[in-house]
Amino acid sequence: MSAKARPRTAESDEPAAPTPVALEDLPGVGGAIADKLREAGYTDLMELAVASPSDVAEAAEIGTATAQKIISEARRQADVGGFESGVTLLERRQKLGRVTTGAKSLDDLLGGGVETQAITEFSGEFGTGKTQLAHQIAVNIQLPVDQGGLASETVYIDTESTFRPERIVDMAKGVGLDPTEALGKIHIARAFNSNHQMLLVGKAQELARERPIRLIVVDSLTAHFRSEYMGRGELAPRQQLLNRHLHELLRFGATFNAAIVVTNQVSARPDILFGDPTRPIGGNIVAHAATYRVYLRKSKPPKRIARLIDSPNLPEGEAVFSLTGEGIRE
Ligand code: GTP
Ligand code: MG
Repeated sequence: MSAKARPRTAESDEPAAPTPVALEDLPGVGGAIADKLREAGYTDLMELAVASPSDVAEAAEIGTATAQKIISEARRQADVGGFESGVTLLERRQKLGRVTTGAKSLDDLLGGGVETQAITEFSGEFGTGKTQLAHQIAVNIQLPVDQGGLASETVYIDTESTFRPERIVDMAKGVGLDPTEALGKIHIARAFNSNHQMLLVGKAQELARERPIRLIVVDSLTAHFRSEYMGRGELAPRQQLLNRHLHELLRFGATFNAAIVVTNQVSARPDILFGDPTRPIGGNIVAHAATYRVYLRKSKPPKRIARLIDSPNLPEGEAVFSLTGEGIRE
């Protein structure tokens, strides 16, 4: 492959993103099966490589043994499942980037800002500032590194139609960026349902081969899943899909050294009258995939309180920040 044909990644010395190979190239996958797989969200080899045989069997309406064969071949071709040396891992960790939230207290809580190659979840009741934070981070990532950004662009997956270009204009002005340029560096997709939401991660990968995308926002991560899988019996499929979605996001983060910011609304349940409102939905699934989980609550306006919950490498603590006309501030 010539240097020119090499797919771009965040830094040129990073391994190139996997070259897209048509699903049809896998032995045993004809056009009909490939179509069914793509419909179910398996758009490239890597997605198949990390899938479970039962999911693939169901999606393509084939036997589990056939699905297993297809997955094994996808793994072989996508070159996954091997070991990574400690040195490689350390090098990868040293490339971690950080984006400022606009409030130093909140950055400190997160260990220096929102981290790349990780999922950061902002949860909280309505109006706690989840969407404002998502907008602000999409603006701040455009800043040069010495100002708390990564000089990069954002894919913004909007599931509730709450993205507001006007807020981006305000926030861009607030950090001294040209508003029109700032808007041009945020690539917004409205997700109409959970399946579409998952497909958009694949689209983001395509875009990231052309544009320097270092952030994916999913606002809200859980709203579609919550409304589409309501019954008790649907909990397992919902969690399974959410799990796959989160892992596809994580993989994007690792491939492009990108930050993943997701929001998750929690609502006070009538049966819990004291203490914290309920836990965010997707509970243990998100807990497992998200590196940083920040729980937001309202304080004296315009203040909000952020609390870091169950972080493996940072002390639990709280930070206060403000929601202002110019955006998130200390
Ligand atoms: P849900 O999506 O409903 O769960 O809420 P959320 O957590 O996403 O809340 P969001 O980020 O939308 O926060 C809404 C709050 O942000 C408002 O109550 C205001 O305090 C603040 N806010 C939003 N827009 C503006 C604005 O233009 N100016 C100012 N000063 N504050 C704003
Ligand atoms: Mg919101």
